[in-house]
Amino acid sequence: MRHLMSPLDFTVEELDQLLDLANDIEKNPNKYSHACDGKKLATLFYEPSTRTRLSFEAAMMNLGGNVLGFSSASSSSASKGESVSDTIKMISCYADICAMRHPKEGAPLVASTKSSIPVINAGDGGHQHPTQTITDLLTIRSLKGRLSNLTIGLCGDLKFGRTVHSLINALVRYENITFVLISPEELKIPDYIREDVLIQNNVTFKEVERLEEVMPELDLLYMTRVQRERFFNEEDYVRLKDRYILDMKKMSYAKEDMLVLHPLPRVNEISVEVDNDPRAAYFKQVQYGVYARMALILILLEIQVSEH
Ligand code: CP
Repeated sequence: MRHLMSPLDFTVEELDQLLDLANDIEKNPNKYSHACDGKKLATLFYEPSTRTRLSFEAAMMNLGGNVLGFSSASSSSASKGESVSDTIKMISCYADICAMRHPKEGAPLVASTKSSIPVINAGDGGHQHPTQTITDLLTIRSLKGRLSNLTIGLCGDLKFGRTVHSLINALVRYENITFVLISPEELKIPDYIREDVLIQNNVTFKEVERLEEVMPELDLLYMTRVQRERFFNEEDYVRLKDRYILDMKKMSYAKEDMLVLHPLPRVNEISVEVDNDPRAAYFKQVQYGVYARMALILILLEIQVSEH
C-alpha cells in the first residue's frame, strides 16, 4: 500500500505515467466513469479548502465512487480532543482511501503510519502540497509541452507557501530548470529549500524583489497569495499583502507565450483584468486538478482500466 506525502514519493518515471494517465482521462472520461464503483474516498479537512477538497470529491464521483468526510476540525471529534491517529483508525473502517489537510506539518504522515488505507497529504501547514504540485506539473506539461528547459518565476509568499516548496522539490529533478524567486526579504524561500534542495541539486536560481525587472525572462510565472493564516502578527500581513499585484502593465513586459499559474485562492495578487489574457492559465489549472486527482486515486487504489 502506498501513501502520498510529498511529490518525491513518486519517481520521475512514475510521475510521467501518472500525468499520461491524467491526459488519457481528459481525452476519454467515459472510459473511467465506473473505475471506482463501490469505492469510497474520505476527505478529512482540518483546515479550510475549496479546490482541493471539492476536486478530490469530484474526482472520486467522476470515477463512479462515493465520498464522505468533514470540512473543518470544528465539525469533527477533533474538537473534543480526538487525535489524528485515532481518527484515521476509524476512517480506515469506513473508506478505501483518504485525503487529509491539516494545519500541522507532518500530521498526514503520522496518520499514514496508523492507517490501513492509502493516505494523501492534501496540504500540511507550510510544508507540502503534493497534489497541487501534480496538478501544476500536469498543467505545465499539457500547455507548454515539456517540464524541462524552463525559466520559472515564483512570486509572493515563498516562506509560507507550501505549493511553492512542493513545486521546487518536484521540478529540480527535470533538466535545465532555472528559478527566479521573487519576494520581499521577509518572505524569502526557507533555508532548507535554498540549501538542501536548490544548492544541493546544482539548480540555477536567483532571488530578487522586483517583479517587473524579471518579467521578460520568464517562461512561466507562478503567483502566490500571502498566507495570512501563517503570520504571527497581523501588522506584518497588512504591510506585505499587496506587495505584488500582477496587472496588464506588468504583463506587457512578458513573453507572448509566458504562462501565468496560481494555485488559488487569489486575493489581490492578480488583477482580474489579467483573467482575459490568453496567458492566464490559473482556471485551466483548476480543471487539470480534477484529472490529476482522478489519476492519483486510480494509482493508489491499484485500479487499472482496460481499453474495452
Ligand atoms: N489550491 C488550493 O489548495 O486551494 P484550496 O485551499 O481552496 O484547497
